[in-house]
Amino acid sequence: MDRWQTIIEPFRIHSVEPIRMSSRAERERCLSDAGYNLFDLRAEDVIVDLLTDSGTGAMSRDQWAGIQRGDESYAGSPSWFRFRDAVQALFPFKHIIPTHQGRAAEKILFSVVAGPGKVVPNNAHFDTTRANVEATGAEAVDLSPAHPSGTILPFKGDMDVAALERSIAEHGREAIPVVFMTVTNNSLGGQPVSMANLRAVRDVCDRHALPLFLDACRFAENAWFIREREAGYETTAIPDIVREMASLADGMTMSAKKDGLANIGGWLALDDDDIAERCRDMLILTEGFPTYGGLAGRDLEAIAQGLSEVVEEDYLRYRIRSTAYLGEALGAAGVPVIQPIGGHAVYIDARAMLPHIPPLEYPGQALAAALYEEGGIRGCEIGTVMFGARPDGTEVAGPMDLVRLAIPRRTYTQSHIDYVIEVVRSVAELAGRLRGFRIIAAPRRLRHFTARFEPLT
Ligand code: F0G
Repeated sequence: MDRWQTIIEPFRIHSVEPIRMSSRAERERCLSDAGYNLFDLRAEDVIVDLLTDSGTGAMSRDQWAGIQRGDESYAGSPSWFRFRDAVQALFPFKHIIPTHQGRAAEKILFSVVAGPGKVVPNNAHFDTTRANVEATGAEAVDLSPAHPSGTILPFKGDMDVAALERSIAEHGREAIPVVFMTVTNNSLGGQPVSMANLRAVRDVCDRHALPLFLDACRFAENAWFIREREAGYETTAIPDIVREMASLADGMTMSAKKDGLANIGGWLALDDDDIAERCRDMLILTEGFPTYGGLAGRDLEAIAQGLSEVVEEDYLRYRIRSTAYLGEALGAAGVPVIQPIGGHAVYIDARAMLPHIPPLEYPGQALAAALYEEGGIRGCEIGTVMFGARPDGTEVAGPMDLVRLAIPRRTYTQSHIDYVIEVVRSVAELAGRLRGFRIIAAPRRLRHFTARFEPLT
């Protein structure tokens, strides 16, 4: 099989969803009606939707069969036991607490362990993780080194271990309820974290008696990168790599909408009895009884089955290769993309691509809008619109201006991606003609979801 260059989708299509084709004139009207905010479009007006890889994947035949088998008993449903066993087969933590998605697990954990005066270090917080830490009055600190987007490193998601030591010395271990590692590192381009780095962080945590948790949303993609890139893991089975990652942690938060291969769901898992009890009390208040949490029995079944499929080698080889296929084609066409290509998305560096648009005129927004108008592709600005607003109402340039093209799992075929490549290349050719935007209305928090824009002329 290594003879063949083409990595085919390791599935056949069993049920299809129509894509409505639209004209450029229609899309221009849709975008203007949406105040140039791609979150405000109707999904039916999008041709290839790369807004997120979260909950947007296709489920398998066996997951749909699980949905049918779902048992909706309030307490002690057989679906709960299948879910719990599937989670513990990969992450053998003592307590498994099901939630409706990842941020609910974050909310519960941080309301129990964080609070004013506390500090949570992470390689890089995802935005809901940061918001949930900060909502308790605690501080969220990111400790990944800022590598330039073109720097090729095998594990660009790693934490700076010396920075963790400094952070502990600065704040004092009493102020740190938990250290987090996000695998893969979404905020930095879907980049993996090495086992060696996880082990080094574990050593620091051990020395200071601090618990280490994983934000494990894309754990299977991370495990695949470890096998491909880290010495000593070339022949290790993926589930064994996952279990080794878990063995270095004391707990985890998880969004099953990513590597659970499900459309909804998540969990919090941990070993500590006392914290688990307090988290379960909170679960009952905000999510549900501990054997279903925020989920229906059918969702628990879909996740249990998804967890056995996501660690399959044919799936992961295709998944990682097909994301790289998009990134490499764009790179070869001279489009600046974060290198190396990550697991779930390709990140275009809009600041580099549109140097004539200053950050406060939102180059990422300009590129995302152009991709939609040109070809009906919806990506997501990760830049000054998302990160540039300060609490006092002023704004600054975000650390980068990126457009993320996130790939839903098992949803689009190679021809969809070839189309995306063609559209991005054509936008790149007209890059000099793109113009920035001005924000005409925005809420005080999380403005990227609802801000309205006006094109600058
Ligand atoms: N942690 C990471 C690293 C994430 O990427 C996400 C979600 C979450 C936590 C929260 O999980 O959505 O189930 O509540 N990321 C999505 C994205 C939304 O588009 O990257 P959730």
